[in-house]
Amino acid sequence: MDTLEQTDCEDLFSTPLFRFKLPDAEAFNNDLLEEGRRLRKKSVGVEKSNYGAWHSSGSLFKSTSPCIKTLKTVAEAASYIATQNVSPKLEISTLKMDVFGWMNVTPVGGYNAPHTHPGAHWSGVYYVSQPAVEKGESGKIEFLNPRTDLPNWRILNSPTFGAKKAIRPQPGELILFPSYLVHWVYPNETDEERVSVAFNTTFEKRH
Ligand SMILES: [Fe+2]
Repeated sequence: MDTLEQTDCEDLFSTPLFRFKLPDAEAFNNDLLEEGRRLRKKSVGVEKSNYGAWHSSGSLFKSTSPCIKTLKTVAEAASYIATQNVSPKLEISTLKMDVFGWMNVTPVGGYNAPHTHPGAHWSGVYYVSQPAVEKGESGKIEFLNPRTDLPNWRILNSPTFGAKKAIRPQPGELILFPSYLVHWVYPNETDEERVSVAFNTTFEKRH
């Protein structure tokens, strides 16, 4: 028998997790922190999956503040790149894109319970500040594998078939994932606040 030749391995039904980085984001992040302080003085915020944290109400991206307008542009760019990655043949100009954003400020003990963002296509988070830790899970965002029947795969120790994946993005990083993906955030065990801006990107056909 001749040597067996692999002709293909198709990544069926994979789950992309995109990571982007804004270079030299320090001054930009300080502007966002300042904007966050201003917004918190004006509004008590809303309660969603966040516990012990402040979540801005309404659409943050309606703000005319320059740093928020820039962040909206960044969120749109990331959404375009991700869409082109997963749908290379799509004529993206045939779609209208809506990006709805909000700010999260998570003090000590605050966390985010497991949830999805129903109805959207992409969900993203931009990290404005992320308290440093030497060990432990504080501040990590964790994604749960949407596949079923995974426990028998544990023995193969394959990242593709792992039950979950946790990462701790740094300030200036933006992550983007499909909105159906269940995720949650470990409690903040530091005495500093973690500040992030989350968003949902939703496409609809242009009429
Ligand atoms: Fe979320």
